[in-house]
Amino acid sequence: MDKKVTVVGAGNVGATAAQRLAEKELCDVVLIDIVEGVPQGKALDLTEAAPIEKHDAHLTGTNGYEASEHSDIVIITAGIPRKPGMSRDDLISTNAKIMKDVTQHIAKLSPDAVLIIVSNPLDAMCHVAYEASGFPKNRVIGMAGVLDSARFRAFIAMELDVSVENTHAFVLGGHGDTMVPLPRYSTVAGIPITELMPKDRIDALVERTANGGAEIVSLLKTGSAYYAPASAAVEMAESILKDKKKILPCAAYLEGEYGFNDLFIGVPVKLGTKGAEDIIEIKLTDDEKAALEKSASAVRELKEVLKKLA
Ligand code: NAI
Ligand code: 2OP
Repeated sequence: MDKKVTVVGAGNVGATAAQRLAEKELCDVVLIDIVEGVPQGKALDLTEAAPIEKHDAHLTGTNGYEASEHSDIVIITAGIPRKPGMSRDDLISTNAKIMKDVTQHIAKLSPDAVLIIVSNPLDAMCHVAYEASGFPKNRVIGMAGVLDSARFRAFIAMELDVSVENTHAFVLGGHGDTMVPLPRYSTVAGIPITELMPKDRIDALVERTANGGAEIVSLLKTGSAYYAPASAAVEMAESILKDKKKILPCAAYLEGEYGFNDLFIGVPVKLGTKGAEDIIEIKLTDDEKAALEKSASAVRELKEVLKKLA
């Protein structure tokens, strides 16, 4: 393939993302993890599936960074996931160290790559990667909104018994309990869901979306969601690799947009070859603005925690 994507962290999200990238024949894939044998074993296993899945993507598993040189995109999933009773924020000290170390290695070998950050707490980890890489803001993007919106879309489709393909949804804000699902901008075949469902049902779906990660953690017990998160990261990667310019909710570095400064938070972003090529500012009601401000405050608090850890 003429494109290369490195996935750091060969755990649940990373390995599933590698599988989806290869099976969609989007790129060659380098899978990196610190655990000896795991990235090598998973890459080989995926390679052995290739004749059946009918793709010619090359997969390499490694514990070092050499093979990742000149990657077009690097998806960073390295870190620990949460267990029942933990919030995403409980992961901050462990994952900040891992994120800094990983990003510094990547930045040396792939100075032109676009980074898609996945590790939690997501918005805080974007700040760590932004600082550690020294990359311009358009090349550090966090994955959360695509996942949260996909969850909202799945719940809307279940509720109305319609195809998921007819659904669109926007979830903005930080990737935490304060995320901001926007029913007014969430549609079925172009029709806002506010015209298709009573308010109490919308409120129930909004709440389920905000708790979507915790719902999966409470079922799995040993870790967090990975099929939908991997799909979300790969949708972002595909838009960048193919310069599709899809508008997707992603964590982006804001400098004045939506009234925020020096902050990564989920907003609609146009994704193309250059990464986050544009931030789309949509009109928000006073209530929506207040919810986004609350979410931004939660991200700012995590930034303060990062400062103390540094
Ligand atoms: P996992 O535990 O299955 O995989 C993480 C992998 O990272 C492990 O294989 C581990 O060995 C590896 N790792 C740890 N330190 C490393 C280092 N320094 N270099 C390379 N690899 C390293 O966890 P999972 O489920 O894949 O989740 C990964 C992260 O993504 C977690 O922090 C989780 O909370 C986050 N996540 C974020 C989502 C989002 O919406 N942004 C959605 C799902 C997960
Ligand atoms: C999720 O939302 C764990 O952040 C991850 O599933």
